[in-house]
This record gives sequence, structure tokens and C-alpha cells, in this order.
Amino acid sequence: MHDSQLAETEKARFAAAGQGQVFAFWNELDGAQREALLRDAAEIDLAEVQHLVDTLVKGEGEAAFSAEGLEPAPYIPHPRSGGDPAPWKEAATAGEEALRQGKVAAFTVAGGQGTRLGYEGPKGTFPVTPVRRRPLFAVFADKLLATQRRYGCRLPWFIMTSSLNHEETLAAFEEADYFGLDPEEVAFFRQGRMPAVDFEGKILLAGKDRIAMSPDGHGGSLRALVRSGAVERMRAGGIEAISYFQVDNPLVKAVDPAFIGFHLLGGSEMSSKMIPKAYPEEKVGHFCRRDGTTLVVEYSDMPKELQEERGEDGELRYLAGSIAIHVLDVPFVDRLGGKASSHRLPFHRANKKIATVDADGRPVKPEEPNGIKFEQFVFDALPQAAHPVIIETRRESEFSPVKNAAGLDSPETCRQDQLREWARWLREAGAELTVDESGLPEFNFEISPLFADSREAFVEKWASMDPPPAIAEGTVLEGSER
Ligand code: UD1
Repeated sequence: MHDSQLAETEKARFAAAGQGQVFAFWNELDGAQREALLRDAAEIDLAEVQHLVDTLVKGEGEAAFSAEGLEPAPYIPHPRSGGDPAPWKEAATAGEEALRQGKVAAFTVAGGQGTRLGYEGPKGTFPVTPVRRRPLFAVFADKLLATQRRYGCRLPWFIMTSSLNHEETLAAFEEADYFGLDPEEVAFFRQGRMPAVDFEGKILLAGKDRIAMSPDGHGGSLRALVRSGAVERMRAGGIEAISYFQVDNPLVKAVDPAFIGFHLLGGSEMSSKMIPKAYPEEKVGHFCRRDGTTLVVEYSDMPKELQEERGEDGELRYLAGSIAIHVLDVPFVDRLGGKASSHRLPFHRANKKIATVDADGRPVKPEEPNGIKFEQFVFDALPQAAHPVIIETRRESEFSPVKNAAGLDSPETCRQDQLREWARWLREAGAELTVDESGLPEFNFEISPLFADSREAFVEKWASMDPPPAIAEGTVLEGSER
């Protein structure tokens, strides 16, 4: 189609949907600006936006959450919390076998912005380890390399970026030589975007030539996995299970054989890790069940009485907190993420301050929320998954996200949590190390995942070293690096 014809068609499409304001400044735009605006417009599914406006903006909003019929979801307790070790061994064996056969891929959702952290670049480039200041991406790469070496397998890594950080993420990998990984085995794709609307449901402009678009939430990963061809590539490569984790947590077991094993042996389409909540009102999602389906109820929806409810044993009844670590079945992602899918994830609305332009095209920086963003959450896939499995993990060993510049979940708490975990490994291996009452050692040191990537691996490696190295301020236990 001729360019001007294409523009007319696009303008007519928006006008017919009552969204003609998107082209309000068309006559003032030069060629490049018009192209930019048309590129934004082409991404928008107007029927979808209309549906969201009808239901979430003008309609009843999200159905008020009802706790009726809610029960805690069952989970498999960790052996260290009294769980039976036999199924864990069996699961680990099954997961290791799947890894050896190359049936597993790693997947990181890295499309968000580090706004709360006050960090400019892609969050995955944030330096996080205590001594070498290795960025989050490097920590994950080391873990994947360690797994590849142990099982002699290929382990493709898929990374979801967004248009906010795609180019920068790629550049960071290029510059770091893919952190030692085979570039062929690392695939990046952008997540989708959704337009923001005002409280009347009108799509907002970010400038005369730009629509106010933002990433569609980590739940957008399901459709992005399909649309980008990643799912097709996984199928072709014999991948069955996707190990899903967020970019903000360096303690995560990027690929955990026992978790993969429980998922496969359980015939599960989506599996999740839980940690026991630290206190009743901790801001995490709760794993629940209702009418035979499993769901995550965000803390903001969970009635206070239920958050605080205790069983006869005095333990919180709704104990299982979600930490956004999952295993996804490839056909399941295909089913939910497909364009024609009737199983699509719901969208959630969030009122936000959205930089826009006034009727004369002058920039407006609102002090109060002036519009709505739409996002999908990946845990909303859980109710549609057959045989979901939830296993317990240890907070201190697997969860310390970097989210805020200071205080809770900050670079400082994360540094300390890494040190505490490594100190536990050392002490378990029989090394002498002074720690305070919280388990924190007195100085910074670092254990590369290529030296050891778990407590068990560390204890074994340490025992084989004669004499073992001294640990002091600044010590780095490296593996055979590349
Ligand atoms: C999220 C979960 C919360 C969980 C916590 C664990 C929600 C609503 N809440 O909180 O239940 O306990 O993590 O750490 O999910 N991302 C994208 N694209 C997007 C939005 C996010 O890729 O459009 C990625 C981010 O890069 C990050 C992850 O998703 O890796 C989490 O996003 P974030 O917004 O930080 O989630 P939280 O609100 O911290």
C-alpha cells in the first residue's frame, strides 16, 4: 500500500474507534514524525483496548475480589522444613535427566524499568556481587554455564526485554562477550506494549508524534514468547520445560533440577516455588485454591483476616508466598500466548502519572495520576494450568531481590544475603568464619557460581581442596572461568 494510503487507513481505523485524537497533530508533523506515530499506532489492537475501556475503565472495573471458597493451596515441603527427602531425590534425578537430554531452557523477564531502584540502565546490568560487582546478567550467565558444564548439555537462554531497554541490553551482552556463553544460545525478544488511556478511555499521546505506550507486564511474556518465534524455536530444539525467573534476584537457582523434576513428574503445565511468609502482612502473592483451581491472590486483594489466620498448630494458614519463580510447559505457553487464544490472560489496571501533551501539544507532567496503564501478570496463567505443582524453597538460599534504592530489598540487603548464604556454605563445609548473630560475615568475599552453585556442590568442592584457600576481605573463589 502507498504510504499516504496507509496513513489514511490507519487514521480511519482510529477515528472509527473513537480514538481519532491520536492523530490530532498530524498536519504539524514531518515525514519522520509521521512514520514514528504510525509505528506506535500499528502496535495497537483497538478491539482489545475497547474491551479494556468497557470493562476496566467504564465498567465495573476488576470484579471486587471475593474470598469465598478460598483455601490455602497445598505445596511440597522442603526436606529442611520436615518434607520427605525421597520425592526430592526422585525429582532431582528426573530433572537432571531432562537437562542432560537438552529439554530445558532458561527464561528471564527483564522488560521492567529499575525506577524504584533509581538505576538508569537495564536492571540486568546492575552490579550486584559484593567484591567483583558482577551485574545480575553475569550472575545468571555463570549459573547457566555451571549447569551446562555439570550436565554436558545445551541450555538456551531466552531474555525478554522491552522497547525501553532492548538495544541497551543487547549492547551490554555484546560488550561483555555474552558473559562467556555461546551467543547462538542466547535469544532476546521484546515484549509487547499497551497504550495508556485517560479516565474517559481515550488513548493518551506522549508527544505530538508519539503514543503513550508502556510494556504490557510480565504476563505479556506468554504472548511475546509465541509472537517472537521463541516457542517455535523451543519446539524445534526439543525443549519441553521453561525455567522462568525475574531479573532482580541473584540468589535464584536459574535452573533447578528438583523443581524441573517435580514439574515433569507431576504432569504439570505450570509450577511455582513458594516461600513461607516472614510475617502475616508481607507483600507477596498468596498461593490459594478455589473450586479445584490454583490461583495467586495478591496481598492487596487478600482479606486481612485471611492473611493473619492461623491453623491449630499456630502456623499461618495462608503461608505460601509467591516469589515469581516458575516452570512453564512449552505447549501451555503456546496455548495461552497464541493470537487466537481464548485463554488469554486478563489485564489489570493501574492508575499512573503519565507524561502527555495538552490540546495545544505542550508537554504536561502531571502531579496526580491522570491515566491508566494495562498490564498482564504471569501468575494469572496458573488457574488454567493442568496439575500445577508448588514446591517450597528456602528464602535465605533463593530469594533476595534488588528492588529499592535503600531499605527492604535493596542492593545492601542483597549483598548481605549473598554473604550470609556463602557463609552458611563455608561453615557447613567445616571452614572457620566469624559471623554476627544474623549470620553475616565481617568482610566481603565472593563465591563464583563457576566455583560452586549450591551448598552441596560447595561442600563437595571444598572437601576436595587440600589445603582449602583462606577466606579474607576481597577473596574471590573463582571456577575455571571460561
Ligand atoms: C513481583 C510480584 C510479586 C512477587 C515479587 C517477587 C507482581 C504484580 N508482583 O513484584 O507477587 O512477590 O515480584 O519479587 O508481579 N517485568 C517485565 N515486563 C513488565 C513488567 C515487569 O519484564 O512489563 C519484569 C521485571 O523486569 C522484573 C519482574 O518482571 O524482572 C518483576 O517486575 P516488578 O514490577 O519489579 O514486580 P514487583 O512489583 O516487584
